[in-house]
Amino acid sequence: MQRMVRSLILVLIVGIVLASQGGSLHAEGDARDIWGADYFPNVPLVTQDGKTVRFFDDLIKGKVVVINFIFTRCQDVCPLETARLREVQKILGDRVGKDVFMYSITVDPNFDKPSVLKAYSQRFQIGPGWLFLTGKEADIILLRKKLGLYNEEEQSGNLSAHTLSLLIGNQSTGRWMKGSPFENPYVLATQVGSWLHNWKLPPKERRDYADAPEVRNISAGENLFRTRCAACHTIGAGDIRNPEKRRVGPDLFGVTQKREREWLIRFVMAPDRMLAEKDPLAMALLAAYDNVPMPDLRLNRTEVESLLTFIEEESQRKMRERRGSEAAGVDQKGSVGPAEPVGDRP
Ligand code: HEC
Repeated sequence: MQRMVRSLILVLIVGIVLASQGGSLHAEGDARDIWGADYFPNVPLVTQDGKTVRFFDDLIKGKVVVINFIFTRCQDVCPLETARLREVQKILGDRVGKDVFMYSITVDPNFDKPSVLKAYSQRFQIGPGWLFLTGKEADIILLRKKLGLYNEEEQSGNLSAHTLSLLIGNQSTGRWMKGSPFENPYVLATQVGSWLHNWKLPPKERRDYADAPEVRNISAGENLFRTRCAACHTIGAGDIRNPEKRRVGPDLFGVTQKREREWLIRFVMAPDRMLAEKDPLAMALLAAYDNVPMPDLRLNRTEVESLLTFIEEESQRKMRERRGSEAAGVDQKGSVGPAEPVGDRP
């Protein structure tokens, strides 16, 4: 009898040990081992303020991070990505720099010295907690390879072959994923702000796309606007009295009334070319917006036309909404009137 009890206890103990080992295969410690100090290079990088930091020890160890690669001379996708991350930063508020860390690393370190990066971050009015980093070219290539964001073509001098290069992750759980600069900033903010922090727990109030009410059809123009323009432009929300809603670029409420259609089409299709041709309006806009250039998003004429149709319809909708609530006597603080301050911008 005693023997039986003893062997039963033994079986139990073995069972517990096995179970706990099985469990630990998925525990955090393992992930840390795989994606730890042995994997990530601890190369030195220099911040926009000239401070030297180590990639692994100072930037990612034990942290939830957003990392992207940019270069300040980039005319197309980087400004969009920066503007979108700026929205993410605004959504996360003062958590940035405390429990979410944001890093933009240049792929053009010979040009992007700390002072150049500093000027860039100031142009975009980037708040604290988000570092812009440069370093030795070889170190940055190594980093990009390790982060899976390296692109051969880009390295051979064609910087604009720049891959969409955003990575979010939690070094301590070993959970990493690539993001797209076209991602909705709220989605991205949720991923880094809650999902990466405690991804095993469902959110308190579980909401699923499947539960969402059926949405109206979204036009091609609206879809393009949301993914390519909304990070930098609002339509009827960026009022001067509503500064927290202001984006990097001008509010586009009524812009189709304000400008000639042909000018708008040419401008949205190739703003850089208009600047090169010294188009007076394009130059004035650039100067009025802290020298942040409107990026060339490589859209064709049909796409730009569908965008302008959307901007026009949305402006009219906003106008009706304002009239309606004015009539109903609702206090319209911050949303009536011209979308932009009249006078100080072209
Ligand atoms: C990275 C930010 C950014 C993105 C993305 C962006 N823009 Fe702009 N846009 C600007 C800035 C900044 C200006 C003003 C300075 C300038 O023109 O260089 C501007 C100017 C404009 C103007 C001129 C406004 C006026 O008063 O005449 C139009 C029109 C415009 N953008 C449309 C678009 C459309 C449409 C998209 C999407 C396809 C888009 N922009 C995407 C930043 C952006």
